[in-house]
Amino acid sequence: MSNLETAQERVRDLRAALDRYNHHYYVLDDPLVRDADYDALLRELEQLEAQHPNLVDSTSPTQRVGVTPSSQFDSIEHLSPMLSLANAFDAEEFGDFNRRLCELLETDEVEFVAETKLDGLAINLVYEDGVLSRAATRGDGTTGEDVTPNVRTIRAIPLRLRHQPPPRVIEVRGEIYLDKRGFATLNQQQERAGLKTYANPRNAAAGSLRQLDPRITATRPLNIYCYGIGHLEGRAQPATQADILDELREAGLRVSSETRLVKGVEACLEYYESIGNRREQLGYAIDGVVYKVNSFEQQHILGSVSRAPRWAIAFKYPPDERTTRVVDIDVQVGRTGALTPVARLEPVFVGGVTITNATLHNADEIKRKDVRVGDTVVVRRAGDVIPEIVGVILEKRPAGTKPYELPDSVPAQAVAQRVQEIIHFASRRAMDIEGLGEKLIEQLVVTGLVNHAAELYELDVASLAELERMGGKSAENLIAALEKSKATSLQRLVFALGIPAVGDATATNLVTAFGTLKRIRQATEEELQAVDDIGPVVAANIVAWFALDSNAALIDALKKH
Ligand code: IVH
Repeated sequence: MSNLETAQERVRDLRAALDRYNHHYYVLDDPLVRDADYDALLRELEQLEAQHPNLVDSTSPTQRVGVTPSSQFDSIEHLSPMLSLANAFDAEEFGDFNRRLCELLETDEVEFVAETKLDGLAINLVYEDGVLSRAATRGDGTTGEDVTPNVRTIRAIPLRLRHQPPPRVIEVRGEIYLDKRGFATLNQQQERAGLKTYANPRNAAAGSLRQLDPRITATRPLNIYCYGIGHLEGRAQPATQADILDELREAGLRVSSETRLVKGVEACLEYYESIGNRREQLGYAIDGVVYKVNSFEQQHILGSVSRAPRWAIAFKYPPDERTTRVVDIDVQVGRTGALTPVARLEPVFVGGVTITNATLHNADEIKRKDVRVGDTVVVRRAGDVIPEIVGVILEKRPAGTKPYELPDSVPAQAVAQRVQEIIHFASRRAMDIEGLGEKLIEQLVVTGLVNHAAELYELDVASLAELERMGGKSAENLIAALEKSKATSLQRLVFALGIPAVGDATATNLVTAFGTLKRIRQATEEELQAVDDIGPVVAANIVAWFALDSNAALIDALKKH
């Protein structure tokens, strides 16, 4: 046998073994070998492929992480649309859904497949002749973003299906997510590296999948559960949802072990209860369970309305509620000039994230709920996303509180002043934040996204991309520019603070004289006057500026970033 033939065989055997170990480890959660043994085989394969480049194949376990970052995500049209789900929020609504199905199907009991509703992001995987060829986010349901290089880095997603023979084309639908432990680890790493942390596992999963550089995605502990198929070609259509799940498992795809076949309302409610009782122990975030009519014949009879199938429903769990205290009530000015009162809260962990603010919506709402500064309140995340105050615990109201009066307007001047401060902060000679122009700053202040300079560093791509004239790409560029600005010099930072009469020359003199911001902040008027260029007026300005609570808060907030 020639050298090449032996290499070819060894490569084939190594790939088969590694694929099998990978499948056991990531898909079946049942490791067969120790990590060190797996790594040794992978290294051997890498070496063989380096020696014989013609043996390299895109489905080889060595080919998961591409090295070329992309500059943007292309659009991909799904072969069949990705639908969404109607919701039920209580047993009555679920009962209505079931009754409607029974009527339409002329039966008195419907068989469903019950599944958990993961809180991640939907993905469409296209396999052609068994080989993963494309992966796209859901997008608007018709067209999504091409995230193939990133999806290839997820070890639980096979690059080649185990089906023999594989279908000509299959779209596999699933949910990409980060489990709770992966989420916590990622946030710890981000914090240690001085990068932004994610508000919840869903955002973290979305942020990780939407990295332009697949090498970053590869470091994120993303996982997947598959729950359906879209377009299918070159293979008989399965007859039931249960068959689909079985086929997905056989193909080597990861399917939740919590799926059950259930018949009738009682069994559905039991499933809902039993998953609900174990929700905290599941290891990953879910926001409900999903019921799908098992028979495709029946699904076909029922059809879809407005992008949601009539044959499926998500039965949501009520949101998590906690108590905390209102430390202040601020007013934000909306895009249209409307005033929105916002309660500043003692930080509280609810529904998987720490919240410090909750909207009070408007004057009527605040009057109806009678929320006052100092009150103990019940908070929850509406739809597990937006923090809201459910109500006040009156027994805990301290003496001497007054009903909150919403001002008629926030002086336009105050808004203008904030805008000017941030323009100065971002300017070329200060923090030099590229892409943060006047118009954008105005939008950020008016929409209440940014109230002071430090809040710039709390922005994320998702909230930026919602602004006018702001695409995903410019949002990403701005976040990158903000990150970059953190590495600025102390001189620039001191100048950026906007202390009256402290220009860039004075800022430089202050830094030369005191060395740290802490020492500048603690300096007395006398000490300040000893610095070049600083007379009694400027010295008094500086001390007065640092003495203001709002400025001290700004500096503390900036320090965090
Ligand atoms: S089926 C047939 N099954 O929920 C309708 N979706 O609200 C298509 N999701 O976009 C969805 N777990 O991101 C389905 N077991 C599950 C799911 C699930 C989570 C998400 C998915 C979808 C959204 C619909």
